[in-house]
Amino acid sequence: MQWKSKITGTGSYVPEKVLDNSDLEKKVDTSDEWITERTGIRQRRIARDRQTNSDLCLEASRQALHAAGVKPREIDLIIVATMSGDMPMPSTASILQRKLGAPNAGAFDLNAACSGFLYGLSVADKFIRTGASRKLLLVGAELNSRFLDWKDRTTCVLFGDGAGAVVLEPTRGRSGILSTHLYSDGTLWDFICLPGGGSENPPSLKTVREGMHFIKMKGNETFKVAVRTLEKLVLSTLKANNVEPSELAMLIPHQANLRIISATARRLRLPMDRVAVNLDRYGNTSSASIPIALDEVARAGRLKKGDYVLLEAFGAGLTWASALIKW
Ligand code: COA
Repeated sequence: MQWKSKITGTGSYVPEKVLDNSDLEKKVDTSDEWITERTGIRQRRIARDRQTNSDLCLEASRQALHAAGVKPREIDLIIVATMSGDMPMPSTASILQRKLGAPNAGAFDLNAACSGFLYGLSVADKFIRTGASRKLLLVGAELNSRFLDWKDRTTCVLFGDGAGAVVLEPTRGRSGILSTHLYSDGTLWDFICLPGGGSENPPSLKTVREGMHFIKMKGNETFKVAVRTLEKLVLSTLKANNVEPSELAMLIPHQANLRIISATARRLRLPMDRVAVNLDRYGNTSSASIPIALDEVARAGRLKKGDYVLLEAFGAGLTWASALIKW
C-alpha cells in the first residue's frame, strides 16, 4: 500500500475579545438583523493591539503538536497559509519557527486567501506522500481586523481573526487524505482584493488616503459564483473517490456565509447536523476557518475513525479547493 498523509493532531485559537453585531451597529449603518439574516454571523473575535498573526499561529500550533504528541524539534516543515502575515518578509512561518523553537524545519508561507488552508493541505500532502517530510505543521491564520475599513459596512461586518493548525504524518493505513483539488480563475481577481501595499501600489500617502490597504469585495457577484462553483466542486470531489454523498459523515466548509454553506449542504442532501458551522461565533476567518472548524469537531468527538470528511473553500483569486479525508 502506498504512503498517504494523515492528520495526527489539530489545534486552534481565537482572540479573547468578542465584537458582536450590536457593537457594529454603533460603528456603521447596519443592524444585527441584517447581518444575521444575510450572513449568519453574530460575533467575531478581534486580536489585541500588540498581538500578531504569528502569535495566533503559535497558540494553535502548540495545541496541534500536543494533540499529535510531537515535539517542535521533530517538525521538518512549517507551512503557514495566510494573507495577513506579520510582514511581507520574512515569512510568518519563519517567525513562527522561532517562537515555537522548531530549528529542524523548513518554513514558508502560502497565499490562496480563503482557500489557503486547503491549498496548504494539498502541498503538505505531496511532501508527505513523496517522503520529503515526515512531520509537518500546517497552519491557517488570519489577522483580518487589521485590514478592514471600519467605515465600510459591506466588509467590516464579515471578517474575524483566528488560527487553526494540523500536524501531518505519513501512514500506510486506509485512513488519511484521499485527494485534494485546487482551482483558480484569475480573470475574477478584482472580486475580492487588497490592492495597496504590494509592488503594484507600494505604500504612499495616496494609497493610504484612498484606503487601498483595506479588503475590498464585490459581495453579491462573489456570492453567485461561490454557490455555483461549490455545488459542482463537492460533487466532483466525491465522484473522484467513488464516494456517495450519503456516505459523508461531515462537511467542513469555509465559513463565509451561512446561505452559501446551506446551499452546498442541500446539494449534497446533507442534514445541517453533519455540517461544521462556526461563523456565527467567529465570522469569516479566511484561511483559518476550516482548521478551526476541524479542530472543534475533532475535539467534540464528532469524527469517528473511518468517517468520510469533506472540506471545501472559496475565496479571493478567485480560488477554490477541496479535500476528502478518511478520518
Ligand atoms: N448592513 C446593512 N445593509 C448592508 C450591509 C450591512 N452590513 N452591507 C450591505 N448592505 C446593503 C447594500 O448596500 C445593499 O443595499 P441597496 O440594496 O440599497 O443597494 C443591500 O444591503 C444588499 O447588498 P448585497 O451586497 O446585494 O447583499 P447580499 O445579500 O449579497 O449580501 C454579502 C452581502 C457580502 C453578505 C454576500 O454577498 C456574501 O456573503 N458574498 C460572498 C462572500 C464570499 O463568499 N466571499 C468569498 C470568501 S471571502
